[in-house]
Amino acid sequence: MHQQTLHQVPRIVVLISGGGSNLQALMDAIAQGVIDATIELVISNTPDAKGLLRASKAGIPTQVVNHLEYSSREAFDRELIHVIDDKQPELVVLAGFMRIFTPQLTDHYHGRMLNIHPSLLPLFKGTNTHERALEAEVDQHGASVHFVTSELDGGPIVLQSLVPVLGEDSPATLAARVLVHEHIIYPIAIKWFCEGRLNLSHDQVTMDGQPLPAQGLAFQS
Ligand code: GRF
Repeated sequence: MHQQTLHQVPRIVVLISGGGSNLQALMDAIAQGVIDATIELVISNTPDAKGLLRASKAGIPTQVVNHLEYSSREAFDRELIHVIDDKQPELVVLAGFMRIFTPQLTDHYHGRMLNIHPSLLPLFKGTNTHERALEAEVDQHGASVHFVTSELDGGPIVLQSLVPVLGEDSPATLAARVLVHEHIIYPIAIKWFCEGRLNLSHDQVTMDGQPLPAQGLAFQS
């Protein structure tokens, strides 16, 4: 157990690797007063992640922890834990963070780390989800918010949004429509967590004390 100080306004640390559009959606939701939380730090594992600029523009501190500078996954994760815990966050948000964690890290943040994945989990874990959804000729694709566990993209699901696949879709057009849904459902799930409504206990997600089904809640637009 890693008991955290419960700050009056929940603190968030965000991890990114790329464009940071999900980070932007979260920053916007906080700026608009939709989510009562503060982003204490944005961490990227790559120095050229565009999302770092988005954070700086919003006055949020950033730090690069470059995985290439560490001799092992364990050493990289140890440094990440050190940098994250220095901010004493209630929640760690993965927003397009493209590194696989050790169980030491995922266990450390059990129940307080969320991820967004561009598929209807448990379908299409891992990368290239849009290509694989088109190859599989599914009618419905989408996005999922889930708690992070040691199983890659396999942690308990909180919220999903369905995106119909169109006959003329390419991976790029499908990805663009899914991303719009990501920007809607991720802030919703983060808001629930920050309000203390969303919990993970023994691998069961509860919302307002009620257990959620295995596929999480379905977002209705
Ligand atoms: C999103 O599709 C996210 O689900 C995936 O990587 C993409 C990151 O986009 N894991 P962004 O960096 O938030 O713009």
